[in-house]
Amino acid sequence: MSETPQRASALTDPDLAYELDRAHVFHSWSAQARLEPMVITKAEGSYVWNREGNRLLDFTSQLVFTNLGHQHPRIVAAIQQQAASLCTLAPGYANGARSEAARLIASHTPGDLDRIFFTNGGADANEHAIRMARLHTGRHKVLSAYRSYHGGTQLAVNVTGDPRRWPSDTGTAGTVHFFGPFLYRSAFSATTEEEECQRALTHLEQVIGLEGPSTIAAIILESIPGTAGIMIPPPGYLQGVRELCDRHGIVLIADEVMAGFGRAGKWFAIEHADGVVPDLLTFAKGVNSGYVPLGGVAINEAIYSTFADRVYPGGLTYSGHPLACAAAVATIETMEDEDIVERAAELGRSVLGPGLAALAVEHEWIGEVRGTGAFWAIELVGDRETREPLAPYGGSSPAMTDLLAACVRRGLLPFSNFNRIHVVPPLTTSPDEAREGLEILDAALTEASAHVRAT
Ligand SMILES: Cc1ncc(COP(=O)(O)O)c(C=O)c1O
Repeated sequence: MSETPQRASALTDPDLAYELDRAHVFHSWSAQARLEPMVITKAEGSYVWNREGNRLLDFTSQLVFTNLGHQHPRIVAAIQQQAASLCTLAPGYANGARSEAARLIASHTPGDLDRIFFTNGGADANEHAIRMARLHTGRHKVLSAYRSYHGGTQLAVNVTGDPRRWPSDTGTAGTVHFFGPFLYRSAFSATTEEEECQRALTHLEQVIGLEGPSTIAAIILESIPGTAGIMIPPPGYLQGVRELCDRHGIVLIADEVMAGFGRAGKWFAIEHADGVVPDLLTFAKGVNSGYVPLGGVAINEAIYSTFADRVYPGGLTYSGHPLACAAAVATIETMEDEDIVERAAELGRSVLGPGLAALAVEHEWIGEVRGTGAFWAIELVGDRETREPLAPYGGSSPAMTDLLAACVRRGLLPFSNFNRIHVVPPLTTSPDEAREGLEILDAALTEASAHVRAT
Protein backbone atom coordinates (compact mmCIF):
# COMPACT_ATOMS: atom_id res chain seq x y z
CA MET A 1 0.00 0.00 0.00
CA SER A 2 1.49 3.33 -0.99
CA GLU A 3 1.70 6.00 1.70
CA THR A 4 0.26 9.45 1.12
CA PRO A 5 3.21 11.86 1.24
CA GLN A 6 2.97 14.30 4.17
CA ARG A 7 2.58 17.91 3.03
CA ALA A 8 4.63 20.41 4.98
CA SER A 9 2.02 22.53 6.72
CA ALA A 10 2.18 25.80 8.59
CA LEU A 11 -0.78 24.49 10.57
CA THR A 12 1.55 22.18 12.47
CA ASP A 13 5.00 23.71 11.88
CA PRO A 14 5.51 27.06 13.69
CA ASP A 15 8.74 27.84 11.82
CA LEU A 16 6.95 27.42 8.50
CA ALA A 17 4.10 29.57 9.86
CA TYR A 18 6.62 32.33 10.47
CA GLU A 19 8.23 31.96 7.03
CA LEU A 20 4.87 32.03 5.24
CA ASP A 21 3.75 34.99 7.30
CA ARG A 22 6.81 36.95 6.21
CA ALA A 23 6.30 35.85 2.61
CA HIS A 24 2.56 36.47 2.29
CA VAL A 25 0.79 38.17 5.22
CA PHE A 26 0.38 41.94 5.05
CA HIS A 27 -0.15 43.18 8.61
CA SER A 28 -2.20 46.07 10.04
CA TRP A 29 -0.65 49.44 10.94
CA SER A 30 2.91 48.26 10.24
CA ALA A 31 5.98 48.80 8.10
CA GLN A 32 5.91 45.31 6.62
CA ALA A 33 9.60 44.61 6.12
CA ARG A 34 10.45 45.52 9.71
CA LEU A 35 8.04 43.07 11.29
CA GLU A 36 9.06 40.01 13.27
CA PRO A 37 5.69 38.76 14.54
CA MET A 38 5.65 36.40 17.50
CA VAL A 39 4.24 33.00 16.51
CA ILE A 40 1.61 31.81 18.97
CA THR A 41 1.11 28.06 18.99
CA LYS A 42 -1.36 27.60 21.83
CA ALA A 43 -3.56 29.62 24.18
CA GLU A 44 -5.58 28.78 27.26
CA GLY A 45 -7.29 30.98 29.85
CA SER A 46 -5.01 33.91 30.64
CA TYR A 47 -1.93 32.46 28.90
CA VAL A 48 -0.48 32.07 25.41
CA TRP A 49 2.55 30.01 24.29
CA ASN A 50 5.05 31.13 21.65
CA ARG A 51 6.96 28.92 19.22
CA GLU A 52 9.97 28.83 21.54
CA GLY A 53 7.66 27.09 24.01
CA ASN A 54 7.54 30.01 26.45
CA ARG A 55 4.33 30.62 28.36
CA LEU A 56 3.25 34.27 28.51
CA LEU A 57 0.62 35.77 30.78
CA ASP A 58 -1.69 37.74 28.47
CA PHE A 59 -2.09 41.22 29.97
CA THR A 60 -3.46 42.47 26.62
CA SER A 61 -6.54 40.30 26.04
CA GLN A 62 -4.99 40.46 22.52
CA LEU A 63 -6.50 43.76 21.30
CA VAL A 64 -8.59 44.00 24.47
CA PHE A 65 -11.16 41.48 23.30
CA THR A 66 -10.65 38.04 24.90
CA ASN A 67 -12.74 39.09 27.89
CA LEU A 68 -13.35 35.48 28.92
CA GLY A 69 -9.79 34.42 28.18
CA HIS A 70 -8.58 31.98 25.57
CA GLN A 71 -10.34 28.76 24.56
CA HIS A 72 -13.21 29.15 26.99
CA PRO A 73 -14.90 25.71 26.82
CA ARG A 74 -18.47 27.09 26.75
CA ILE A 75 -17.75 29.42 23.84
CA VAL A 76 -15.80 26.78 21.93
CA ALA A 77 -18.62 24.25 22.41
CA ALA A 78 -21.25 26.79 21.29
CA ILE A 79 -19.33 27.51 18.09
CA GLN A 80 -18.88 23.78 17.45
CA GLN A 81 -22.57 23.06 18.01
CA GLN A 82 -23.64 25.95 15.79
CA ALA A 83 -21.19 24.83 13.08
CA ALA A 84 -22.64 21.33 13.22
CA SER A 85 -26.20 22.57 12.71
CA LEU A 86 -26.05 25.79 10.64
CA CYS A 87 -22.70 27.40 9.81
CA THR A 88 -23.94 30.42 7.98
CA LEU A 89 -27.03 32.24 6.82
CA ALA A 90 -27.71 35.41 4.85
CA PRO A 91 -28.77 38.41 6.92
CA GLY A 92 -32.36 38.52 5.68
CA TYR A 93 -33.40 35.34 7.50
CA ALA A 94 -34.24 34.83 11.16
CA ASN A 95 -32.22 32.31 13.10
CA GLY A 96 -32.05 31.18 16.73
CA ALA A 97 -28.46 32.22 17.43
CA ARG A 98 -29.00 35.68 15.92
CA SER A 99 -32.32 36.28 17.68
CA GLU A 100 -31.04 35.11 21.06
CA ALA A 101 -27.81 37.12 20.80
CA ALA A 102 -29.86 40.25 20.03
CA ARG A 103 -32.19 39.58 22.96
CA LEU A 104 -29.31 39.03 25.38
CA ILE A 105 -27.45 42.15 24.24
CA ALA A 106 -30.62 44.25 24.49
CA SER A 107 -31.26 42.88 27.98
CA HIS A 108 -28.00 44.48 29.17
CA THR A 109 -27.85 47.75 27.19
CA PRO A 110 -29.19 50.74 29.11
CA GLY A 111 -32.61 52.37 28.58
CA ASP A 112 -34.47 51.67 25.37
CA LEU A 113 -31.48 50.54 23.30
CA ASP A 114 -33.38 47.40 22.35
CA ARG A 115 -32.85 46.93 18.60
CA ILE A 116 -29.60 45.42 17.42
CA PHE A 117 -27.96 45.89 14.03
CA PHE A 118 -25.09 43.40 13.69
CA THR A 119 -21.81 44.22 11.97
CA ASN A 120 -18.48 42.43 11.56
CA GLY A 121 -16.59 44.58 14.09
CA GLY A 122 -16.26 47.96 15.75
CA ALA A 123 -15.35 50.26 12.84
CA ASP A 124 -18.34 49.27 10.74
CA ALA A 125 -20.56 49.54 13.83
CA ASN A 126 -19.48 53.17 14.15
CA GLU A 127 -19.90 53.78 10.40
CA HIS A 128 -23.48 52.51 10.58
CA ALA A 129 -24.28 54.39 13.79
CA ILE A 130 -23.18 57.61 12.11
CA ARG A 131 -25.19 56.80 8.99
CA MET A 132 -28.27 56.21 11.15
CA ALA A 133 -27.69 59.50 13.00
CA ARG A 134 -27.28 61.42 9.75
CA LEU A 135 -30.45 59.99 8.23
CA HIS A 136 -32.39 60.42 11.48
CA THR A 137 -31.44 64.09 11.89
CA GLY A 138 -31.01 65.11 8.25
CA ARG A 139 -27.69 66.69 9.30
CA HIS A 140 -24.15 65.78 8.27
CA LYS A 141 -21.45 66.81 10.74
CA VAL A 142 -20.05 64.49 13.40
CA LEU A 143 -18.16 65.67 16.46
CA SER A 144 -15.62 63.46 18.19
CA ALA A 145 -12.77 63.82 20.64
CA TYR A 146 -9.05 64.15 20.08
CA ARG A 147 -7.36 61.22 21.85
CA SER A 148 -9.91 58.68 20.64
CA TYR A 149 -10.05 55.62 18.40
CA HIS A 150 -13.17 54.64 16.49
CA GLY A 151 -11.85 52.22 13.84
CA GLY A 152 -9.80 51.84 10.69
CA THR A 153 -12.38 52.18 7.89
CA GLN A 154 -12.66 55.45 6.02
CA LEU A 155 -15.26 57.33 8.05
CA ALA A 156 -14.35 55.66 11.36
CA VAL A 157 -10.71 56.66 10.96
CA ASN A 158 -11.72 60.22 10.07
CA VAL A 159 -13.75 60.37 13.28
CA THR A 160 -10.78 58.95 15.20
CA GLY A 161 -8.71 61.44 17.17
CA ASP A 162 -5.27 59.81 17.16
CA PRO A 163 -2.33 59.77 14.72
CA ARG A 164 -3.74 56.79 12.86
CA ARG A 165 -6.16 59.26 11.28
CA TRP A 166 -3.54 61.52 9.78
CA PRO A 167 -2.62 59.60 6.59
CA SER A 168 -6.31 59.05 5.72
CA ASP A 169 -7.77 62.36 6.87
CA THR A 170 -9.67 63.70 3.89
CA GLY A 171 -10.67 66.94 5.62
CA THR A 172 -14.01 66.41 3.87
CA ALA A 173 -15.54 63.60 5.92
CA GLY A 174 -17.78 65.96 7.86
CA THR A 175 -15.89 65.32 11.11
CA VAL A 176 -14.86 67.93 13.69
CA HIS A 177 -12.67 67.20 16.70
CA PHE A 178 -12.81 68.67 20.19
CA PHE A 179 -10.94 68.15 23.46
CA GLY A 180 -12.40 65.68 25.91
CA PRO A 181 -11.53 65.84 29.59
CA PHE A 182 -8.05 64.57 30.55
CA LEU A 183 -6.86 66.22 33.73
CA TYR A 184 -3.32 64.79 33.67
CA ARG A 185 -2.67 66.58 30.37
CA SER A 186 -5.40 69.18 30.62
CA ALA A 187 -6.07 71.22 27.48
CA PHE A 188 -7.74 73.77 29.77
CA SER A 189 -5.02 74.29 32.42
CA ALA A 190 -7.42 72.79 34.94
CA THR A 191 -6.11 71.61 38.30
CA THR A 192 -9.11 69.65 39.61
CA GLU A 193 -11.54 67.14 38.14
CA GLU A 194 -14.39 69.64 38.69
CA GLU A 195 -12.57 72.35 36.75
CA GLU A 196 -11.62 69.94 33.97
CA CYS A 197 -15.22 68.77 33.67
CA GLN A 198 -16.71 72.22 33.63
CA ARG A 199 -14.12 73.65 31.20
CA ALA A 200 -14.35 70.67 28.84
CA LEU A 201 -18.14 71.12 28.71
CA THR A 202 -17.84 74.88 28.11
CA HIS A 203 -15.37 74.13 25.30
CA LEU A 204 -17.72 71.57 23.74
CA GLU A 205 -20.63 73.98 24.01
CA GLN A 206 -18.56 76.60 22.15
CA VAL A 207 -17.55 74.12 19.45
CA ILE A 208 -21.21 73.22 18.92
CA GLY A 209 -22.19 76.90 18.83
CA LEU A 210 -19.45 77.84 16.40
CA GLU A 211 -19.93 74.83 14.12
CA GLY A 212 -23.68 75.44 14.01
CA PRO A 213 -25.91 73.14 16.06
CA SER A 214 -28.29 72.65 13.15
CA THR A 215 -25.45 71.09 11.10
CA ILE A 216 -24.44 68.50 13.68
CA ALA A 217 -25.90 65.00 13.40
CA ALA A 218 -23.99 63.28 16.19
CA ILE A 219 -21.41 63.40 18.90
CA ILE A 220 -19.55 60.11 19.14
CA LEU A 221 -17.55 59.39 22.28
CA GLU A 222 -15.92 56.37 23.85
CA SER A 223 -17.65 56.12 27.24
CA ILE A 224 -14.11 55.60 28.57
CA PRO A 225 -11.49 56.34 25.91
CA GLY A 226 -9.48 53.12 25.53
CA THR A 227 -6.45 52.94 23.25
CA ALA A 228 -6.06 56.71 23.65
CA GLY A 229 -5.22 56.26 27.32
CA ILE A 230 -8.09 54.94 29.50
CA MET A 231 -9.19 58.36 30.76
CA ILE A 232 -12.29 57.98 32.94
CA PRO A 233 -14.47 61.05 32.35
CA PRO A 234 -14.89 63.17 35.50
CA PRO A 235 -18.24 62.99 37.30
CA GLY A 236 -20.83 65.05 35.44
CA TYR A 237 -19.06 65.16 32.07
CA LEU A 238 -21.16 62.62 30.19
CA GLN A 239 -24.31 64.02 31.82
CA GLY A 240 -23.26 67.43 30.45
CA VAL A 241 -22.68 66.01 26.95
CA ARG A 242 -26.10 64.32 27.10
CA GLU A 243 -27.68 67.65 28.04
CA LEU A 244 -25.95 69.47 25.16
CA CYS A 245 -27.13 66.78 22.73
CA ASP A 246 -30.71 67.04 24.03
CA ARG A 247 -30.67 70.82 23.83
CA HIS A 248 -29.55 70.80 20.19
CA GLY A 249 -31.23 67.66 18.82
CA ILE A 250 -27.86 65.92 18.38
CA VAL A 251 -27.62 62.11 18.49
CA LEU A 252 -25.29 60.82 21.22
CA ILE A 253 -23.35 57.74 20.13
CA ALA A 254 -21.50 55.86 22.88
CA ASP A 255 -18.65 53.79 21.46
CA GLU A 256 -18.40 50.80 23.83
CA VAL A 257 -16.35 48.67 21.45
CA MET A 258 -13.48 48.38 23.92
CA ALA A 259 -14.97 49.52 27.23
CA GLY A 260 -18.19 47.48 27.00
CA PHE A 261 -19.12 43.97 28.09
CA GLY A 262 -17.62 44.09 31.56
CA ARG A 263 -14.20 45.52 30.74
CA ALA A 264 -14.76 48.59 32.94
CA GLY A 265 -16.45 46.65 35.76
CA LYS A 266 -19.97 47.38 34.45
CA TRP A 267 -21.83 45.76 31.60
CA PHE A 268 -21.31 49.04 29.74
CA ALA A 269 -18.88 51.78 30.78
CA ILE A 270 -21.56 54.45 30.30
CA GLU A 271 -23.16 53.07 33.49
CA HIS A 272 -20.36 54.82 35.41
CA ALA A 273 -22.17 58.06 34.44
CA ASP A 274 -25.40 57.81 36.42
CA GLY A 275 -28.56 58.17 34.35
CA VAL A 276 -26.90 58.73 30.96
CA VAL A 277 -28.48 56.76 28.14
CA PRO A 278 -27.01 57.28 24.66
CA ASP A 279 -29.20 57.22 21.55
CA LEU A 280 -26.96 54.66 19.87
CA LEU A 281 -24.39 52.37 21.44
CA THR A 282 -21.75 50.53 19.43
CA PHE A 283 -20.09 47.31 20.56
CA ALA A 284 -17.76 44.54 19.32
CA LYS A 285 -14.78 42.74 20.92
CA GLY A 286 -16.05 41.56 24.34
CA VAL A 287 -19.55 40.78 23.00
CA ASN A 288 -18.24 37.31 22.17
CA SER A 289 -14.66 37.53 23.45
CA GLY A 290 -13.60 38.01 19.82
CA TYR A 291 -13.83 34.29 19.02
CA VAL A 292 -15.61 35.03 15.72
CA PRO A 293 -15.75 38.61 14.33
CA LEU A 294 -18.86 40.44 15.56
CA GLY A 295 -19.91 43.99 16.30
CA GLY A 296 -23.08 45.99 16.26
CA VAL A 297 -25.19 49.00 17.01
CA ALA A 298 -27.82 49.06 19.76
CA ILE A 299 -30.56 51.46 18.62
CA ASN A 300 -33.09 53.39 20.69
CA GLU A 301 -36.79 53.54 19.96
CA ALA A 302 -36.75 57.01 18.34
CA ILE A 303 -34.09 56.10 15.79
CA TYR A 304 -35.63 52.67 15.24
CA SER A 305 -38.90 54.49 14.40
CA THR A 306 -37.14 56.50 11.67
CA PHE A 307 -36.55 53.22 9.89
CA ALA A 308 -39.81 51.49 10.79
CA ASP A 309 -41.44 52.37 7.46
CA ARG A 310 -38.45 53.76 5.62
CA VAL A 311 -35.69 51.54 4.28
CA TYR A 312 -32.45 51.63 6.21
CA PRO A 313 -29.91 51.97 3.39
CA GLY A 314 -27.13 49.75 4.68
CA GLY A 315 -26.14 46.14 5.28
CA LEU A 316 -23.41 43.54 5.39
CA THR A 317 -23.28 40.02 3.94
CA TYR A 318 -22.32 38.59 7.33
CA SER A 319 -24.58 40.72 9.53
CA GLY A 320 -25.55 38.49 12.45
CA HIS A 321 -23.38 35.56 11.38
CA PRO A 322 -24.65 32.46 13.22
CA LEU A 323 -21.20 31.32 14.40
CA ALA A 324 -20.44 34.78 15.81
CA CYS A 325 -23.88 35.07 17.38
CA ALA A 326 -23.67 31.60 18.96
CA ALA A 327 -20.34 32.70 20.48
CA ALA A 328 -22.05 35.87 21.78
CA VAL A 329 -24.85 33.86 23.39
CA ALA A 330 -22.36 31.58 25.16
CA THR A 331 -20.21 34.56 26.22
CA ILE A 332 -23.09 36.57 27.67
CA GLU A 333 -24.65 33.55 29.41
CA THR A 334 -21.27 32.72 30.95
CA MET A 335 -20.87 36.33 32.08
CA GLU A 336 -24.27 36.18 33.75
CA ASP A 337 -23.79 32.73 35.33
CA GLU A 338 -20.29 33.42 36.65
CA ASP A 339 -20.81 37.03 37.75
CA ILE A 340 -17.95 38.08 35.47
CA VAL A 341 -18.75 41.81 35.52
CA GLU A 342 -18.52 41.98 39.30
CA ARG A 343 -15.38 39.83 39.23
CA ALA A 344 -13.77 42.34 36.85
CA ALA A 345 -14.81 45.23 39.11
CA GLU A 346 -13.33 43.42 42.12
CA LEU A 347 -10.11 42.57 40.27
CA GLY A 348 -9.67 46.30 39.69
CA ARG A 349 -10.61 47.30 43.25
CA SER A 350 -8.56 44.76 45.14
CA VAL A 351 -5.62 43.78 42.90
CA LEU A 352 -4.95 45.87 39.79
CA GLY A 353 -5.72 49.32 41.24
CA PRO A 354 -3.76 48.93 44.50
CA GLY A 355 -1.01 46.91 42.77
CA LEU A 356 -0.40 49.54 40.11
CA ALA A 357 -0.54 52.33 42.70
CA ALA A 358 2.19 50.48 44.63
CA LEU A 359 4.30 50.30 41.44
CA ALA A 360 3.93 54.07 41.07
CA VAL A 361 5.41 54.54 44.55
CA GLU A 362 8.31 52.31 43.59
CA HIS A 363 9.06 53.64 40.09
CA GLU A 364 9.38 57.38 39.65
CA TRP A 365 8.89 57.20 35.89
CA ILE A 366 5.26 56.22 36.39
CA GLY A 367 3.54 59.59 36.09
CA GLU A 368 -0.04 58.44 36.60
CA VAL A 369 -2.06 55.26 37.11
CA ARG A 370 -5.72 55.31 36.11
CA GLY A 371 -8.49 52.90 35.33
CA THR A 372 -11.25 50.69 36.67
CA GLY A 373 -12.23 47.02 36.40
CA ALA A 374 -9.80 45.22 34.11
CA PHE A 375 -9.06 48.44 32.22
CA TRP A 376 -5.92 50.27 33.43
CA ALA A 377 -3.18 52.49 32.03
CA ILE A 378 0.13 53.60 33.44
CA GLU A 379 1.55 56.77 31.96
CA LEU A 380 5.36 56.70 31.74
CA VAL A 381 7.22 59.98 31.90
CA GLY A 382 10.85 61.11 31.77
CA ASP A 383 10.16 63.60 34.56
CA ARG A 384 7.25 63.66 36.99
CA GLU A 385 7.31 67.46 37.23
CA THR A 386 7.17 68.26 33.51
CA ARG A 387 5.20 65.08 32.69
CA GLU A 388 7.28 64.73 29.54
CA PRO A 389 6.07 61.48 27.92
CA LEU A 390 8.62 58.68 27.76
CA ALA A 391 7.80 58.31 24.06
CA PRO A 392 6.49 61.01 21.73
CA TYR A 393 2.79 61.20 20.78
CA GLY A 394 2.37 58.70 17.95
CA GLY A 395 5.84 57.18 18.43
CA SER A 396 8.03 54.91 20.53
CA SER A 397 11.36 55.26 22.32
CA PRO A 398 14.28 52.99 23.26
CA ALA A 399 13.13 53.05 26.88
CA MET A 400 9.64 51.82 25.94
CA THR A 401 11.10 49.17 23.61
CA ASP A 402 13.38 47.96 26.42
CA LEU A 403 10.50 47.78 28.86
CA LEU A 404 8.32 45.76 26.51
CA ALA A 405 11.16 43.35 25.73
CA ALA A 406 11.86 42.91 29.45
CA CYS A 407 8.19 42.04 30.03
CA VAL A 408 8.21 39.39 27.30
CA ARG A 409 11.52 37.89 28.49
CA ARG A 410 10.01 37.51 31.94
CA GLY A 411 6.78 35.90 30.71
CA LEU A 412 4.32 38.76 30.29
CA LEU A 413 2.57 39.87 27.11
CA PRO A 414 2.24 43.68 27.51
CA PHE A 415 -0.07 46.14 25.73
CA SER A 416 1.57 49.47 24.94
CA ASN A 417 0.63 52.65 23.15
CA PHE A 418 3.21 55.45 22.79
CA ASN A 419 4.36 56.18 26.39
CA ARG A 420 1.79 54.00 28.10
CA ILE A 421 1.41 50.42 29.25
CA HIS A 422 -2.20 49.30 29.42
CA VAL A 423 -3.05 46.55 31.87
CA VAL A 424 -6.04 44.90 30.24
CA PRO A 425 -6.10 41.18 31.06
CA PRO A 426 -9.09 38.90 30.50
CA LEU A 427 -11.89 39.56 33.01
CA THR A 428 -11.49 35.93 34.09
CA THR A 429 -7.89 36.49 35.23
CA SER A 430 -7.56 35.20 38.79
CA PRO A 431 -6.21 37.49 41.53
CA ASP A 432 -3.08 35.30 41.72
CA GLU A 433 -2.49 35.55 37.97
CA ALA A 434 -2.96 39.32 38.14
CA ARG A 435 -0.45 39.53 41.02
CA GLU A 436 1.99 37.41 38.99
CA GLY A 437 1.64 39.88 36.09
CA LEU A 438 2.19 42.88 38.35
CA GLU A 439 5.35 41.26 39.80
CA ILE A 440 6.71 40.75 36.29
CA LEU A 441 5.87 44.34 35.39
CA ASP A 442 7.63 45.51 38.55
CA ALA A 443 10.79 43.56 37.65
CA ALA A 444 10.68 44.73 34.02
CA LEU A 445 10.30 48.37 35.13
CA THR A 446 13.35 47.96 37.39
CA GLU A 447 15.36 46.34 34.61
CA ALA A 448 14.43 48.95 32.00
CA SER A 449 14.90 51.91 34.36
CA ALA A 450 18.65 51.85 33.55
CA HIS A 451 17.72 52.96 30.04
CA VAL A 452 15.41 55.70 31.33
CA ARG A 453 18.18 57.12 33.52
CA ALA A 454 20.51 57.05 30.50
CA THR A 455 18.08 59.08 28.34
C1 LIG B 1 -13.27 52.22 21.00
C2 LIG B 1 -13.07 51.48 19.71
N1 LIG B 1 -13.91 51.71 18.69
C3 LIG B 1 -13.79 51.07 17.51
C4 LIG B 1 -12.76 50.16 17.31
C5 LIG B 1 -12.64 49.46 15.98
O1 LIG B 1 -13.01 48.14 16.09
P1 LIG B 1 -12.60 47.08 14.95
O2 LIG B 1 -11.10 47.00 14.97
O3 LIG B 1 -13.30 45.83 15.38
O4 LIG B 1 -13.12 47.60 13.66
C6 LIG B 1 -11.86 49.90 18.34
C7 LIG B 1 -10.76 48.94 18.16
O5 LIG B 1 -9.83 48.87 18.92
C8 LIG B 1 -12.02 50.59 19.58
O6 LIG B 1 -11.17 50.38 20.59
